[in-house]
Order: sequence, then structure tokens, then C-alpha cells
Amino acid sequence: MGYRILETEDVPAYLRERGHWDDLEDIHVREVSDGNMNRVFLAANGAGTRGLAVKQALPWVRVAGPSWPMSPERADAEARAYEQVARVAPDKIPAIHGYDPGHYALVMEDMSDLEVLRTVLNAGASYGPDTSRRIGEFVAQLTFATSDFGMPSAERKALIAASVSPELCRITEDVVLSEPYIEHEHNHWHPELDDLAAEFRADTRLRTEVAELRHTFMTSAQALLHGDLHTGSVMVGERDGTPVIRVFDPEFSFVGPIGYDIGLYWANVLVATARARALGTVTDHAAQLRLSWEGFESEFRRLWPTRVDTFFDDAYLDRFLRRVWTDAVGFAGTEIVRRIIGFAHLTDLTTLPDPVPASRATLLLGRELILRRAELHSPEDIEGIQNTENTENGDSTTECLVP
Ligand SMILES: Nc1ncnc2c1ncn2[C@@H]1O[C@H](COP(=O)(O)OP(=O)(O)OP(=O)(O)O)[C@@H](O)[C@H]1O
Ligand SMILES: [Mg+2]
Repeated sequence: MGYRILETEDVPAYLRERGHWDDLEDIHVREVSDGNMNRVFLAANGAGTRGLAVKQALPWVRVAGPSWPMSPERADAEARAYEQVARVAPDKIPAIHGYDPGHYALVMEDMSDLEVLRTVLNAGASYGPDTSRRIGEFVAQLTFATSDFGMPSAERKALIAASVSPELCRITEDVVLSEPYIEHEHNHWHPELDDLAAEFRADTRLRTEVAELRHTFMTSAQALLHGDLHTGSVMVGERDGTPVIRVFDPEFSFVGPIGYDIGLYWANVLVATARARALGTVTDHAAQLRLSWEGFESEFRRLWPTRVDTFFDDAYLDRFLRRVWTDAVGFAGTEIVRRIIGFAHLTDLTTLPDPVPASRATLLLGRELILRRAELHSPEDIEGIQNTENTENGDSTTECLVP
């Protein structure tokens, strides 16, 4: 690939070379990569009063090494997504100080004073009043601006062409939207889920519904998406007494169905709820689907009068939002299923003392979301299934249910 792969000791010179740190101050660097794919370094001065983060894509998957090559152009997709969001929702992403396409490296705001939402939730804390609403708003702001409602047709066509990301979309098409429903070496699960994994593979009705969602993912070029909007892609915290949220890691960004971003977040909310129920630490979990949808819908409707193509009328908006909702319900189901019987699992469930009951209930919920998405019209409808799935085999867990 012919570019310099940065090691911790290279970062100070790199930052100076690129004009990000032009004084003679000492720079202390530590590597904080904890994802699967890329390297992340944090640079700070001795006094800790100044910090920057550097994220570099390697020509392979970081945790696998050169035996699993992966185009570093995923960093281009990440930079492009940040550029689009910066125009419409700059307060919801890290400040980007520069992208260096030659090294596939982004220099951005140091967010080490914030915490990853999944970590916060796994530790038993609540979401807080604004988190999910602002995530919904983030999706609306990014997707409206990059849809045919927010962007002139020719500019949109150029964005679609520039954002084609075959390698990363293929990962989603395989790992999320097909492998869990067939025999595949990637799949694994807790032995006490053997029966459900086999049932899911044999379920032809389920497979056809997943095929439809997969085809929607492949063909529905509605707007630029984040592409990987789970609770590990959101940082939360407080600065000067004000709540702060930062959505990050949009390397899977491409032009696709808006319901995919919303559904991915919902799946992670529902899995976090299952964890909290198992541990008896439920707080504000039940409100999050509604809050995120309301954040999305009200922001999208607020932007609607600014649309560039008024042939799209108000009645069409209602129809469009209904479709986004239904897609989101279905994609939430596929994300749940793949996180329990597919390739990559979630610490929300794997770190439970006994992951089996919560995993079984959540897996069944995932299937219902996929199969019944057309008849589920509200967060309350989804809550209704959640409560049913918690009583699998008559083993009622009613005492843990949220009021
Ligand atoms: N700007 C930043 N400031 C502080 N910490 C950061 C920053 N960016 C990333 N991190 C830390 O590095 C981790 C990995 O970052 P990120 O998720 O962007 O990398 P990735 O390799 O794409 O991960 P994944 O395998 O999950 O896709 C984050 O979970 C976070 O802990
Ligand atoms: Mg990533």
C-alpha cells in the first residue's frame, strides 16, 4: 500500500509535520485502540491542557494483522461522513482538524474526557434525558441533508458515486444480513442456544424477510448513513455542566436506507435493556426507542419545509417516514440476531453472570421484529413483544419489567 504506518513514537513528528502542533511543547502519546479495525492515538502536552486524537486505518484489520487485508479507504469514507455532518450537526461529532488521505489518518478532537455509551450503560448508569433524542436528531440532520429532500439532484448523484463502499457494505451484507441464517464458520453462540440457532437457520419465512431487508440495504440509496451506529460509536459526558454527545467512527458510511442507522441503535438499546433486566438495574431504558424516534421524526419534519424538491408533498413525507420506521424495526431485529448467533457479540450480554436467559429472550425479540415489522407501529408495540419474550416457556420475569 506504500504509506507510513504510524507507531506511538512517530506521532509527535507527524503532528508537527502536518501543522497540528507547531510549537516546541513536549507531546506525550499513548495508543488507545480498542476497536477491531484501526489505530487510535491520543497526544497531549505535559500539562494535559491540550490534546488531539489521531486515527489511522491500516491496510488490514488491526486485530487480525496482514493475514486479513482490508482497504484503508474506509478512512476516506469516515472523513467524508464527518465532512457532511459538520455542515449540519457539528455539535454532535468530534471536531475534525484534518484528514490526510495519503496516510489514511484523521486528526480530531480529543474525547478522552467523555465515555463510550456502551461502557456507561454496562456499568449500570442511565442514558440521561437527552442522549437518545439527540442521536435521533443526528440521524435526521445527516440523512435529510444528504437525501433528495435536502440536496439538489446532481450533487446527490455525485455523493452517491463518491460514497460507494463495496468492501464495507459487503461486510454488513454478509455478517449482519445473511450469515446468521445459514451455516457459516463465522457464526458462534452459547451452547444453550443450539436449538434457537438451528431453528433460525431452518426458518424459511424468516430468511425471506431477511432477504428483503438485505435487498433494501443493497438498493435503497435514501441518504448518507453513519453505517455503524451502535452504542460503542457514541461518547457521552459533560463539559462545563452541559451534557455533551459525540457520534464517532462512521467508517461504514455509505448512501443507504435511513432505517438502518435507526435500527442499529435500537438493537443496541434493546440488548442493553435485556442486560439491565437480567441484573435488575433497569433505569430509563424503556423510554429510549421512543425518544430516539421522536428526535429523528421531529427534526426531519422540522427540516421538511426547506426541501429542495417540492414535488415531494406532505402526504409523501408521512408515507416515507412510515417506511423508515418499518425498515428500522426490521434492521433492529437483524442486528440483534447477528450479535447473539453471528460473528461479533456484545459485551452487554457476554459479561452477564448467566448470559443465556437474556440472550434467548433477546434473540426471540429480534425474530419478532423482523417477521412482524409491518404490524408494529409504535414503541409500545415493541415493548409489548419484549414483555412476551421474557416469559419464554412460561418462565415469567415480570418482576424485572419496567413499569
Ligand atoms: N477522538 C478520540 N478521543 C478519545 N478517544 C478516542 C477517540 N477516537 C477513538 N477513541 C477511542 O478509541 C476507540 C476506538 O475508536 P474507533 O471506534 O473509532 O476505532 P475502530 O478501530 O474503528 O473501532 P471498531 O473496531 O469498533 O470499528 C474508541 O472506542 C475510543 O475508546
Ligand atoms: Mg470502526
